[in-house]
Amino acid sequence: MKRQTRLTINEEVYMEDIPAYMTLVDYLRRHAGMTGTKESCGTGDCGSCSVVMNGQVVKSCLVLAVECDGKEVTTIEGLAQDGNLHPLQTSFAEKWGTQCGYCTPGFIMAAKALLDRNPNPSDEEIKHATAGNLCRCTGYVKIIESIQDAAKTLREERDSYGNKSLANR
Ligand code: FES
Ligand code: FES
Repeated sequence: MKRQTRLTINEEVYMEDIPAYMTLVDYLRRHAGMTGTKESCGTGDCGSCSVVMNGQVVKSCLVLAVECDGKEVTTIEGLAQDGNLHPLQTSFAEKWGTQCGYCTPGFIMAAKALLDRNPNPSDEEIKHATAGNLCRCTGYVKIIESIQDAAKTLREERDSYGNKSLANR
């Protein structure tokens, strides 16, 4: 059975008849061609499939695409603006927050949801916000440093340019 669904993904509207059983991660990767979101466990344990939905981080393997009707989803593909990487993407690359990279989109999206509501988080708050994300490579220290580095960059950008011009960062 299919259900007509209106999803907004990275500010683009998709109006589709979607099978009721299709998960959001399947829709993103197999149907919409957005393979930046990774699927690993498929059971909600690893966080590699994390995306932001209406400002909250969700595990897209646990969400049906039809549940996103009328909602706004942001994936890793939606972060770069005008060819410029988001500070989280830059910091993960420069501060060794990524090694094999499989967990990285999920961590970045969890961090994005955190920094949107808390621009100056403590290490403990970062650990709490990313507690649902697993990494087999980094040992997590570099991930926390990367998120702190991006938070600092975003605060500096906001101080320099004001909040208005950075509404989508
Ligand atoms: S693939 Fe979704 S939590 Fe692991
Ligand atoms: S960088 Fe390899 S799993 Fe995290």
